[in-house]
Amino acid sequence: MRRKLAAGNWKMNGTSAALAEAEAIAQTHAASPVELLLCLPATLLSRAHDRLAASSLSLGGQDCHAETSGAHTGDISAPMLADAGARAVILGHSERREAHEESSEMVRAKARAAHEAGLMAVICMGESLAQREAANTLDIIAGQLSSSVPDTATGENTVIAYEPIWAIGTGLTATTDQIGEVHDFIRARLERRFGAGVGRSTRLLYGGSVKPDNAAQIFATPNVDGALVGGASLTQADFSPIVTALE
Ligand code: G3P
Repeated sequence: MRRKLAAGNWKMNGTSAALAEAEAIAQTHAASPVELLLCLPATLLSRAHDRLAASSLSLGGQDCHAETSGAHTGDISAPMLADAGARAVILGHSERREAHEESSEMVRAKARAAHEAGLMAVICMGESLAQREAANTLDIIAGQLSSSVPDTATGENTVIAYEPIWAIGTGLTATTDQIGEVHDFIRARLERRFGAGVGRSTRLLYGGSVKPDNAAQIFATPNVDGALVGGASLTQADFSPIVTALE
């Protein structure tokens, strides 16, 4: 039985005042059966950890370097995130694949580093609109899946987030048929590569304009174990109904 996961990606949003929203989310769902994860800007992690230590809400980063330390100005290593209180890290988000030219091989190295630091890797993948229109979606996902997910993946240390690029921040949401097709495909590929144990225990999240009014429909889709939410994770008012839809 896979535990449902409601994950928020705050992206480059939030200064210390925004932690009140994180606290409100934690308080509202203190007794929730759903696992809660907020991936905050790195600058907020330590303070959030101090303020949320008593809660069951977990914290995550949004990227890490593949090495543990060294001459990499501006980068943050997986052990540093863990030291700041993170339990997880988002890797391979399309915004990083595009703006920072991250290849799937780089994502895989980062995921291995995350695993070695004891972090859960939330590995993102998804097709562009042009790729979907050319009927290449499953080929793109197959390639990203095989190249981005390291052999160290288990059902506990890895989560896969399917985020069609055209649905991120656009208000366009994939249909449940589209989501179901890709999630079924990812599940089958994971089972084939890692065996039924890992393949069936790995959680698959959907991301891309998940909002209070479409969450329940998305979560009713087979093989959707939760969501990776951007804009609607920034406030308790928006995020809570999404968590509730998973409960
Ligand atoms: O990682 C989550 C994300 O890319 C989706 O963002 O704002 O469309 O929910 P949003």
